[in-house]
Amino acid sequence: MADLIGEIQALDQKAAAAVGSAANAEALQQVTQDFVGKKGALTQVMKQLGSLSAEERGAVGKAANEFKLRFEALITEKEQQLTEARYATLAETEFVDMSVVPAEFAAVKSGAAFSGHIHPISRTQKQLEDIFTSMGFSIVDGPQVEDDYHNFGALNFTDDHPARDMQDTFYTTTGHLLRTHTSTVQIRALERMKPPLRIIAPGRVFRYEEVDASHEHTFYQMEGMIVDRKVSVGNLLHLMQTLLTEVFGREVDVRLRPGYFPFVEPGFELDMKCLVCDGKGCPVCKHSGWVEVLPCGLVHPNVLKSAGLDPNEWQGAAFGLGLNRLVMMQHGIEDIRHFMAGKLDFLKQF
Ligand code: DAH
Repeated sequence: MADLIGEIQALDQKAAAAVGSAANAEALQQVTQDFVGKKGALTQVMKQLGSLSAEERGAVGKAANEFKLRFEALITEKEQQLTEARYATLAETEFVDMSVVPAEFAAVKSGAAFSGHIHPISRTQKQLEDIFTSMGFSIVDGPQVEDDYHNFGALNFTDDHPARDMQDTFYTTTGHLLRTHTSTVQIRALERMKPPLRIIAPGRVFRYEEVDASHEHTFYQMEGMIVDRKVSVGNLLHLMQTLLTEVFGREVDVRLRPGYFPFVEPGFELDMKCLVCDGKGCPVCKHSGWVEVLPCGLVHPNVLKSAGLDPNEWQGAAFGLGLNRLVMMQHGIEDIRHFMAGKLDFLKQF
């Protein structure tokens, strides 16, 4: 028995040496296994207990427990030391120099290389989304492959309406079509949402066009619509003025001219006072002092009715912004075909 107690006490020195030389948390874990683990030194000693009397076993057991306590204290102390040492060197071992510019970025900065960036249309779209969401509008979406009902019928274009000819488009063999305007989303929103509502719907639209400097077969629009119990042309004007002032970063004057679209009554073309000549007349505004910006109007009662709303209770205002046109005005871009051409020379300018 005396032997066993002696063996246990001898472990103290070995443990102190092993713990002392452990260089990190993993090594310390190994030391713990070596001494008090299932196959550790202490367990080996305890295996010999069987040959002892009950009294002797008690004495050896007590010695073993005392060793365990001393060992745990050693380990805890060492853990603390290791943690402190790690923190002390952290600034050197894990330092990252945030001011280092990797070679690729340096090349872009110096103009030797070109990095990709967001497309000018996407950027303006995002800017408009920010303006409108800050005024309580939701951004909604609709499919690009539509049916006749959402593109025309529900928007008060009768089957033989001549206004359909202005929006000729691509038809699929299943009787669907590529939407000609984002006004489709007015109907989709009215089907899904309960008024009062305020939405914008940016997206791609398609037309069967003779492509030239101002006409594309694929372009971008942003639809806007408010439906509430009382909506006036005054609300519409204010909204448009706010929008343009934000987009162009300065006070903008607007005016309305009559315009015809089957889904609004009254319908308007909204003009903006020319920012280039301040309304005096110049080549940009074709010497009129005004630039045509977007069509808009009060939602036609038939559109409200087709959505199941009572036009005596609800009123609406809507507008359809041509995003390509707006971006062309923002940046002085002379040809709409640049947007889809995938030409780096053009894109690099933004
Ligand atoms: N959807 C029309 C077009 O693409 C534009 C438009 C006109 C939209 C008047 C509107 C509106 O919301 O009120 O030609």
